[in-house]
This record gives sequence, structure tokens and C-alpha cells, in this order.
Amino acid sequence: MDHMRSISVPLGDRTYEVRIGHGILPSLGPWAAAITRARRAFLISDSNLPPALVESASSSLSNAGFTVLTTRVRATEPEKSLETVARLLADVAATRHERTDPVVALGGGIIGDVGGFVAAIYRRGVPVIQCPTTLLSMVDASVGGKTGVNLPTPGTGDGGLKKNLVGSFHQPALVVADIASLGSLPDRELRCGLAECVKHGLITAASDGGSLLDWTATNASRIVGRDPASLIELVERNVRVKAQIVERDEREDSAKDLRALLNLGHTFGHAVETMPGLSLDNDPAHAPLHHGEAVGLGLVAAAACAAKLGLCDPSLQDRVTGLLRQIGLPVRISGLTPAAVIGAMHHDKKVLGGRLRLVLPTHAGVQVIDDPPESAVRAGIAAIAL
Ligand code: GLY
Repeated sequence: MDHMRSISVPLGDRTYEVRIGHGILPSLGPWAAAITRARRAFLISDSNLPPALVESASSSLSNAGFTVLTTRVRATEPEKSLETVARLLADVAATRHERTDPVVALGGGIIGDVGGFVAAIYRRGVPVIQCPTTLLSMVDASVGGKTGVNLPTPGTGDGGLKKNLVGSFHQPALVVADIASLGSLPDRELRCGLAECVKHGLITAASDGGSLLDWTATNASRIVGRDPASLIELVERNVRVKAQIVERDEREDSAKDLRALLNLGHTFGHAVETMPGLSLDNDPAHAPLHHGEAVGLGLVAAAACAAKLGLCDPSLQDRVTGLLRQIGLPVRISGLTPAAVIGAMHHDKKVLGGRLRLVLPTHAGVQVIDDPPESAVRAGIAAIAL
């Protein structure tokens, strides 16, 4: 446990720790026992995880005195649904799970969102322990308390699903990020998690002089090569960024517009992600892009859009592009038409009164820009179109 790091997310009586290390999942049980006098734990895990990983979490909990009910969920966007939540609620209610008994969510962002939402609404709220097993959920989704599910909304042009339309803020009681669980993560998903790290580097560039971006660039090959010490430091640095933002704007308050900054790259990115038939190799059979790939493209587009508005130095786009290339993420894509991208961008959750609100990098830091001129939005799209 030499390399274990612990970061506090200070939120008054909802303060919690994010523990990061290699091989720390076997400590889950004692750590859970230290924060609750509960007797039962409801372990929700991703059905694709290696059985040994689930067994490690489950036996750690039972060795610490918990009676463990284990259930598996398929981590797909359609399964992130109210039906899945209803099934899990029925399972947990059948065990007479009490108010202090924790839900433990072991998996990526989908499992964390569904498990967190079950914990938020069962008996009006039971503790949730987030155990993220993907890089994306370690550096982003598991920290900050966003939980929820998708709703089917046929005809919205959003793949028939409105993402995260139903949900609740429910901060975890503890986050346990075991870097060893990244061993089974496909390379493509590791790269996708790194897109969110580049996003954090851009968000902090004005305040840290670009040091997170520089650190990520210097260590990119060790990170992609899954060097444990580099991964621990990567997760630690990025959780610190997320924790500082969540501490100042826990519920994405529009008067503060701080947590909204975490949506940098997401308006362009989400539009690209939801456009049918787009793929890395131009073969529609390989569509869609993964979320992190779309976010990476969105970061390039945001930098180009901001440069067109004179908000940031044009060299920022090259810096972002260079780092994404180093990581192995796409920086341009075929099949984009500006009108279709702009149309899809208007489905963004930040749109107010039909007007776009973009998070863009500026000399003074990342800011929300209301109703940007279409010429600048088109410059952003042109920067990522092949
Ligand atoms: N992933 C964005 C947020 O947690 O606010």
C-alpha cells in the first residue's frame, strides 16, 4: 500500500475520501466497515468484469462482516434504464436492506450512475461506495455525485435515448479506485479516459500554467503502457481537479457556472458522438465513436472556435492536437457536415432559449460563452472535419 493516495472531497457532512492505489480492492471491506455499522452490502457489478475482480470485492466485504448480495448489470446505454433500476430496487428490498447498508457500485460510469441512483432513491437514500474500474470513471464519473439513467425518447435524433435525463445528486460515502482493475480495460477505453484528462489539463491551464497538460504529455507513453505508478499519479492529479470544482459548485449551479466547465469539449463532442454512421476508419459498420474519442474531437473544435473568436492563442489547438495524437486519439473525422453538427449541438443540455452556450478556453481560463457567432462554431467544426 506504499503508493496509496487519498484525496478528500470536502462537502461538509457529505465529505468523503477518494482512495487510489494498485491492488487496494481487498481493503474495500475494512474501509466500508470503518464508515458504517451496517450489516449488509448490495454489490452491483458490470457483467463484463473478470469474475476474480468481483470475487475480490465480495470476499473483502464478507470477511469484514457484511452479508453481501451480488448482482450483475450489462453496462450498455439501453440497460442504463428505469427498468434496470426497478429490478435492482426489488432485489435490494427483498433483503430488507436498511438505511445504513451501503450499495457498492463496481464498474465503469454506467454501473456507477445506475448504482448511485438506486442508492439515492432506495429508502430516500442509502450510502453508495463507488469502485470505478475504468479510467474514465476513476478520473470523472465516480467523483461528484452525479447519478441517473437514460430515458427512451424516440425521434429526438439522440439515438432514441436521452442520456441522463432522470437522476439525482448523491455523493458517495467513499471512492475506491484500484488501478489494478485497469488491467482488463481495452486500450481503446484507456485512451477514452485520457480524453477527460486532457480536458482537465485545459481547464486548469490558466491557473497551473499548463503543468497538468505538460505532465500528461511527458508521461503519455508510460500511461498508455499502463505503468502503475504513472497511472496512480494520473488519477490523483485528475481527481484533485474534479474535487476542487465539485467542492465549489456541488450541484452545477447556473449562477456559478463552475461545474459546467467540466463540459468543455462536450457540446461539439456529444454532437459528433450522436451522429449516425461516424467511425474511426470511415466504415459505418464500426460506428459509433466512443465517448472519449468524441470528447477529444470536441476539445480540438473548442480550441479552434475560441481562437476564431480571439479568446485564446491559436497555438492551443496545436497543443491539444499534439497531445491527443500522442495518446492515440483521433483529431479529425470524415463524414461531418456543418449543418448536421450544428443541428445536433442544439440538443445540448446547456442550450437556453434555443441559443448555444459553449464552454471555451480563454486567456483568463475556461468560460461559458453564450450564443457564439455561427462563423466561430463553423471554424470549430472545420478544424475536426477531414
Ligand atoms: N462529468 C461532469 C460532471 O461530473 O459534472
